[in-house]
Amino acid sequence: MQKLLVVANWKMNPSAIGAAQRLTKAIKKGLQRVTDTEIVLCPPHTWLSAIKEELKKSKIKFGAQNSFWKESGAYTGEISVSMIKNLGCSYVIIGHSERRQILGETDEIINLKLKRALKGGLNCILCIGETLEERQEDKMAEVVTRQLQSGLKGISPFSLSRISIAYEPIWAIGSGTPPASPNEIMTAGLFIRKVLTGLYSTSVVQKLRILYGGSVAGSNAAFYIKESGMNGLLVGGASLNATEFINIVKTVSNI
Ligand code: 13P
Repeated sequence: MQKLLVVANWKMNPSAIGAAQRLTKAIKKGLQRVTDTEIVLCPPHTWLSAIKEELKKSKIKFGAQNSFWKESGAYTGEISVSMIKNLGCSYVIIGHSERRQILGETDEIINLKLKRALKGGLNCILCIGETLEERQEDKMAEVVTRQLQSGLKGISPFSLSRISIAYEPIWAIGSGTPPASPNEIMTAGLFIRKVLTGLYSTSVVQKLRILYGGSVAGSNAAFYIKESGMNGLLVGGASLNATEFINIVKTVSNI
C-alpha cells in the first residue's frame, strides 16, 4: 500500500523569500515526526532554491507547479524539466485548472508536458476536474474521461506508476465550500479508476494514488481520506498557513 500523499500548492505565494523560508521552517518543524505520509511542498519557481536549503535533512519533498515540454531554446518565460530537477525537485504539478482556464492549456499541451516531465524522471501530479457549469450539466464523467484519455495519451504503464491524479472540481477551489457529501468525491474517485482501467491493467491502476483538492482544511481533511477513500490531498490556500497545513497532515496521518 502506497503512503498517503499530501501536496501543498502555494500557487503565486508568498511574495517574499523570507516568508517562504519561515513557512517552510514551520512546516518542517511541525511535521518532523510524521513518517507515514508523503509530504510535498510546491512553491513558486523563484523560491525553489531557498526551499531546498530549508528542507535539508528533512523527509519533506518539494516540487514545481509547472514545467515546459521542451528542454531549451527560444521559449521566453518557460522553465524546463532539467532546470527544476537541477534545483532538487522530485515532483511537478501538471494541468492545474488555473493553467487550463487562465493560460489556455489544452489537454494536448498537458500531455506534452506530462511526457517530458516523466522522461526527465519527475513524479507528476496530473490535475483534472469539471467547472461549475459542467457540473450543473451533469458532465463530470464526460470531462474527466476526456482529460484522462487525452492527458495520458501515449504514456506507458511503467510511467503511470509515477503519476498521481488530483481530482479538483473547479467549483470547489478557493470557494470555502467543498463538496458536502463524501459520496460525491468517492463517486468521482471510483469513476476515475474505472476510466483508467479502460486504459491500463487493473494492477497498475490499483497502485495509483488519487488525490482530492478544493478548499481542503484541517476541519474536512479526514473526511476526504477516511470517508471518501482518497489517497491524498492537494491543498491550496490552507497550505500557506503552517498551523493549518500541519493540522491537515496530522489529521490524516496516524500520529
Ligand atoms: P484551495 O485549497 O485554495 O481551494 O486550492 C485548491 C487547489 O487549487 C490546489 O491545487
